[in-house]
Amino acid sequence: MATENTLRTPQEIRELENERDLLRQKILSQQTQIDELTAELRETNQGVVALYAELDDRAGQLKDASDLKSRFLSYMSHEFRTPLGSIMSIARILLDRMDGPLNEEQEKQVRFIQNSATELTEMVNDLLDLAKVEAGKVTISPAWFEMVDLFSALRGMFKPIMDKSEISLIFVEPANIPRLFTDHVKLSHILRNFISNAVKFTQRGEIRVGVRQNDETTMMFTVADTGIGIAAENLESIFHDWVQIASSAQKRLRGSGLGLSLSKRLTELLGGEIRVESKLGVGSTFSVIIPIQLPGHEAMSEEAAAVPGEKARLL
Ligand SMILES: Nc1ncnc2c1ncn2[C@@H]1O[C@H](COP(=O)(O)OP(=O)(O)O)[C@@H](O)[C@H]1O
Ligand SMILES: [Mg+2]
Repeated sequence: MATENTLRTPQEIRELENERDLLRQKILSQQTQIDELTAELRETNQGVVALYAELDDRAGQLKDASDLKSRFLSYMSHEFRTPLGSIMSIARILLDRMDGPLNEEQEKQVRFIQNSATELTEMVNDLLDLAKVEAGKVTISPAWFEMVDLFSALRGMFKPIMDKSEISLIFVEPANIPRLFTDHVKLSHILRNFISNAVKFTQRGEIRVGVRQNDETTMMFTVADTGIGIAAENLESIFHDWVQIASSAQKRLRGSGLGLSLSKRLTELLGGEIRVESKLGVGSTFSVIIPIQLPGHEAMSEEAAAVPGEKARLL
């Protein structure tokens, strides 16, 4: 087979040498380009590092602001509680006629003071709870408990309000519901918020509180009302801090707009989620779905947890 390896003429050699020199020059200029690029990259890199530092700084500032907000909230809430307590006890003393009789008009006025102070106390409590959650100061203490006990505690809590109301509050007796291992105080708080909203926004009909097993590992609690309902476009925003939907009912009622936002955060702490379905003018159903056994906590066996003769105290 013929090869191309033949002898070159001096002319060819010169040409090859020229070509080699050209290539060398090209390589040199490319090397310079690479050096330039490297320098540029180094600079960009320094810029990125500086940006990161700035971001870190901003994150730090944000955290400080959030800590400050939490501290401010908890401080304010504590400062509010004491004078509110005095207002409430003096109103009670006056209404009990411990310092003498009241005429009809005076009684009306003192009741007004009492109602306003109660409302303000509820608001302050919501604020304090939210501040605690934001500051990460809420501890979850799970224990085994029976649904029946939780429902009867809630029933007792709402009895004084419902006795005066035209609507009925029905607790559907839990049937075949396993015991739960979760923080029942937090769960009760969430349901209490749902029920008090349902009571606030329902003028006629009923409020039904129920529980059923959702799937193998979760439970679903529902509070269904026949109240004013919520428009679809507002179903998300009601879970934000301070949000209240404008309505004629809302003008009569007060509240902080913090209840649902707090409930949402408490539900997340219990490893669950909230769902809401609603139709304007028909009613709303709020549900909370939580694990039967709070994940991440060592659940004692039911037998070991059951101390004979002692029942978990609810609420
Ligand atoms: N059951 C309900 N029916 C109709 N509207 C509701 C219901 N629950 C909540 N809402 C709406 O969501 C808003 C936020 O609720 P919430 O956070 O509990 O605040 P608050 O009760 O203090 O107003 C309420 O102001 C109301 O507009
Ligand atoms: Mg509320």
